[in-house]
Amino acid sequence: KKKLTIPQFKEMKAQGQRFSMVTAYDYTFARIVDKTPVEMILVGDSLGMVMLGYDSTVSVTMEDMLHHIKPVVRGARHTFVVGDMPFGSYNVSVGEAIRNANRIIQQGGADAIKIEGGSNVLEIVSEMVKGGIPVIGHIGLTPQTAAQLGGFKVQGKDAEIARRLVEDALHLEQAGVFALVLECVVAPIAELITGKVAIPTIGIGAGPACDAQVLVLQDLLGLYDKFTPKFVKQYAQLNDPIANALTTYAREVADGSFPGPEQSFGLNQEPLGRLY
Ligand code: KIV
Ligand code: NA
Repeated sequence: KKKLTIPQFKEMKAQGQRFSMVTAYDYTFARIVDKTPVEMILVGDSLGMVMLGYDSTVSVTMEDMLHHIKPVVRGARHTFVVGDMPFGSYNVSVGEAIRNANRIIQQGGADAIKIEGGSNVLEIVSEMVKGGIPVIGHIGLTPQTAAQLGGFKVQGKDAEIARRLVEDALHLEQAGVFALVLECVVAPIAELITGKVAIPTIGIGAGPACDAQVLVLQDLLGLYDKFTPKFVKQYAQLNDPIANALTTYAREVADGSFPGPEQSFGLNQEPLGRLY
């Protein structure tokens, strides 16, 4: 597997080749994703929910992001890694936004950043791109500003909002994003946008016409048991098997069947080698 480049992602769109993105937040899972054909990893601020137990993404800080981006980058040497700009990291000033994006690239080691927003982030995006920072846009349902959207709602049913989404997509492309996440956008509008821009659209709850798809790893694997949105497909149901394994472990410890002789050391033990 070889890490794809930004021109290659654009070329894939031109050739009608789809690609996939998944979130990851730690070294172990990054290594697993790295073994698969999945072309892109997002260290999303969704880590606030699935890794940190918050109710929303707005509590996630730059320090949280860097803490998770670094191990993912170490684990996924052959996969393009994108780091999310968390709430509060780009709403103070353009300068601070660039400083924080620089940290995600320079300290975190990510290949690109992702930022939520439309017309409100155009200047920030264009200054980042001028500064050499690869940027992915994110419009539609933007969880960091969901309160302003009236909650977690599908976007684009309303003609006015649909028109603004198309405009935002075109303006973000002009500002220099090399890809664009469309979250919870009605399928016909996502299709319209996908046809109008030369950059790949990455859909999540945005129908089948997008050039790429992204899912939260915990949702895709059936690990997160609190809530499963309609747009998620569970490719495995790992929550129960994990709970079952732990239950068996606890029972075997309680009844003395673990550890057995196979897991115990005698006096003539061979060297262990490296454990971790
Ligand atoms: O944080 C995240 O996981 C995201 C994806 C849902 C696009 O932004
Ligand atoms: Na996010």
